[in-house]
Amino acid sequence: MPGVKLRFVIAISFWSLALTTSTKNFKQFTYNGFQQAELHLDGGATVHSNGLLQLTNTSNQVKAHAFVPHRLNFDSPSSLSFSTTFAFAMFPEIQAACGQGIAFVLSPSMDFSQATAGQFFGLFNSSTNGKSSNRIFAVELDSMQSIEFGDIDNNHVGIDVNDLRSMASVTAGYFNDVEKRNKRLNLNSAKPMQIWIDYDSVDTVVNVTLAPLGLPRPSKPLLSLPVNLSEVVRDTMYVGFSSSTSASASSHYVLGWSFSQGRQAQAQAQTLDLSKLPSLPDFGSKSRKLSRVSMVFVILTAAVLTSIALGMYLRWRKKFEETLEDWEQQYILQRFSYKDLYKATKGFKDKELLGMGGFGKVYKGKLPYTNVEIAVKKVSHSSGQGVREFVTEIACMGRLRHRNLVQLRGYCRRKGDLFLVYDYMVNGSLDKYLYEEGKPNLSWSERFKIVKGLASALVYLHEEWEQVVVHRDVKPSNVLLDANMNARLGDFGVARLYDHGSNPHKTHIVGTCGYLAPELIRKGRATTATDVFSFGITVLEVACGRSPLSFVGGQDYTVTDWVNDCWMRGVIVEASDPRLGGDYVLEEMKLVLKLGMLCSQPSPEARPKMRQVMQFLDGDATLPVTFPSGGNNTLPSFSPSYEAMFTSYSIDSVLIVGR
Ligand SMILES: *[C@@H]1O[C@H](CO)[C@@H](O)[C@H](O)[C@H]1NC(C)=O
Ligand SMILES: *[C@@H]1O[C@H](CO)[C@@H](O)[C@H](O)[C@H]1NC(C)=O
Ligand SMILES: *[C@@H]1O[C@H](CO)[C@@H](O)[C@H](O)[C@H]1NC(C)=O
Repeated sequence: MPGVKLRFVIAISFWSLALTTSTKNFKQFTYNGFQQAELHLDGGATVHSNGLLQLTNTSNQVKAHAFVPHRLNFDSPSSLSFSTTFAFAMFPEIQAACGQGIAFVLSPSMDFSQATAGQFFGLFNSSTNGKSSNRIFAVELDSMQSIEFGDIDNNHVGIDVNDLRSMASVTAGYFNDVEKRNKRLNLNSAKPMQIWIDYDSVDTVVNVTLAPLGLPRPSKPLLSLPVNLSEVVRDTMYVGFSSSTSASASSHYVLGWSFSQGRQAQAQAQTLDLSKLPSLPDFGSKSRKLSRVSMVFVILTAAVLTSIALGMYLRWRKKFEETLEDWEQQYILQRFSYKDLYKATKGFKDKELLGMGGFGKVYKGKLPYTNVEIAVKKVSHSSGQGVREFVTEIACMGRLRHRNLVQLRGYCRRKGDLFLVYDYMVNGSLDKYLYEEGKPNLSWSERFKIVKGLASALVYLHEEWEQVVVHRDVKPSNVLLDANMNARLGDFGVARLYDHGSNPHKTHIVGTCGYLAPELIRKGRATTATDVFSFGITVLEVACGRSPLSFVGGQDYTVTDWVNDCWMRGVIVEASDPRLGGDYVLEEMKLVLKLGMLCSQPSPEARPKMRQVMQFLDGDATLPVTFPSGGNNTLPSFSPSYEAMFTSYSIDSVLIVGR
């Protein structure tokens, strides 16, 4: 058999090898180094004199296999359970490039002559990959990203059944039991690591656990996946390793391996004796012998190149440097890298600008790899104070989920800048439709749907979530429209952020003139009732097509004055947006106008709660009869005065009020 080396052992147990067969015909073996191991090797695989199993070398496009040369019985349910662990290391040829990886394999055959190297791991080829007739179970340690198999990155662990498109995969890492958090591992770091793979045939769960070699087994697996191997595995199977290199290469080594069958096999399979494992070759010691002169030359050149490279690297690092503090680790899932956001927004180019608000600029972006469209709000943050509270709140906000809220996907923090990442809304903001020339006119049914959607979002924030969230800046420019013209309330949390970041000598301006309830101006306290006020003004705008403050016929007018005037004349619907051309449902128009007035009453006690508002809109309740009806002026100081709206005020407000 060309290229195939068979090594046999005399059936004596050496200290480095314990081969035992239990009464139930379960197999258990431990190799602390492979000198004495009985292995079927092919391709680039070889066992060094010190017992180190080398799978691939640094040649490109090679494959390698190392298998126990006889079949193991997996014919009874209990023998299907197994636990295995091995120590491995991956040495890249050059630091930046590496490939492909190592896989632990259960296979019905040891003949992989038809399989290809590279991304196929020496297991499949383009026509066999994915076929259920393969009957192959593998756990891959993959250091390259193969887009065709949907690989998540170039440093992951995956569980494969008949297919290199993994059933599940996760970036290499481990749970650190001392620090109680996940830490990343770089597979191709040339550092030895240990992996544990456990399958229980009763629970039908595969667990994969990884850790740097020398650390105890972490208490939490890296990957845990329900999979029923009795549907995959044949009665007898070969067990071993497959490995390959691609257009770039790494040397792949296995230092020791333990395997045991049966339930409760775990304890036995953890028995690698680290002190007996073979040592790895000294990485980089292969450099040719150089004459003293050329050595000096090489060192000098290297020094110059290194300093240039270092300078470039530092500049590059600085460009993408972020601020990450220890306490932020727990929110890591919601944190984006500055580099990705920079790429997504093409470097925060003005061309990608979606809008500019009081708190910062909003850019459009497309996330690298996934092409998901996002909106990134960049907020300058002058002081470090309050950042922690802010991030806590962002983490909180990230958990808010409602069909009428713009989903907050995460954030990023870099020096004085904070970035909030939201879902991108194709149709932009409501104010553009109400006031901008050239935008299509919103029909009444669209407007009514927007009013209801906005109310629904506020019911959720005020009453349905685990904490009371006061939005504090409800207005048309914060109401975004999705592809189906549904209202999505955005920008929560930003007002709070502004508090933390603003210069203490400057007046805190939170919220927007025209939408601020009078008591907010007086007392500076944001409540759900102040949100209801802003909601009232917003729905009046939707119905009237008028901004809250306008200058008509030499006079300042508030939108409430305007509706009030019409109402007192007994023709409230005259306040409706002329752009509708009278094309609306009369009852709905009256309802929205009156509701807007009810919500924007100066006294917070007189305003309804958002849940009641929703009932009025759904027709489940009727507006209070005592509420002024048209024809007689019972609304003396009904609307906040124009002056009041511009009075400066200071706010010590609360965004989230505990229930
Ligand atoms: C790697 O292994 C292959 C297959 O055994 C062999 O042909 C090649 O010469 C080796 N390359 C190096 C760099 O050792
Ligand atoms: C897999 O991990 C889970 C969670 O730690 C554990 O409950 C379960 O017993 C493990 N199963 C096996 C087969 O190791
Ligand atoms: C696993 O698959 C086998 C064969 O199809 C079946 O008999 C068994 O009930 C399955 N086990 C579970 C837990 O689904």
